[in-house]
Amino acid sequence: MLKIAVLASGGGTNLQAIIDETEAGRLDCSIEVVVTDSPSAFALERAKKHSIATAIVEKSAYPKRKAFDAELVRLLKEHGVEVVVLAGFMRLLSSVMLEAFPMRILNIHPSLLPSFPGLNVQQQAIEHGVKFSGCTVHFVDEGLDSGPILLQAAVPVLDTDTPESLAARILIEEHRIYPEALNIIAAGRISIEGRRVIIKEA
Ligand code: GAR
Repeated sequence: MLKIAVLASGGGTNLQAIIDETEAGRLDCSIEVVVTDSPSAFALERAKKHSIATAIVEKSAYPKRKAFDAELVRLLKEHGVEVVVLAGFMRLLSSVMLEAFPMRILNIHPSLLPSFPGLNVQQQAIEHGVKFSGCTVHFVDEGLDSGPILLQAAVPVLDTDTPESLAARILIEEHRIYPEALNIIAAGRISIEGRRVIIKEA
């Protein structure tokens, strides 16, 4: 069983999806710890409700990115974490984390990368006039939402969409493909060739 940590800054619906799939026996992972940079993150309540260990690493305590990441590494190693799952974690990671978990950090992003990296991406997608958007699970590298892509799912963008309505449609797909991506990793079904992540048949 793959030992994971989920890092979340906000509401934690992706965390909830991972918890639910794990408890239903459909996800071959154990969540060793949920870490947040924000003491008010609702993700903390979700973890506690399911008796999952939690930790808060506040930005104010570690204003320098590398010191923040060194504390993260210490915590994650203490919990025996093998794969780090960013789920709405709104902080860029430095080389300290990337070197401690090479190709072992995953992120989910609410657009079809490489379109619309960064923030407010549902609004950007609507303003750009794209007809489809979606979500991407990718490995984290030193860039912004730029690492090798593992899974994507597309949703239509409607003429009537607001950023909120599009975000909600995308989240449904996020909750489906993030657990799927974790199962693929837990089963050792990937190899990486250059930028391409090749998924072997189950
Ligand atoms: C999700 O839509 C996730 O893709 C996005 O934040 C939301 C978190 O929702 N992540 C990013 O934008 C990262 N750049 P959640 O807290 O309900 O899982």
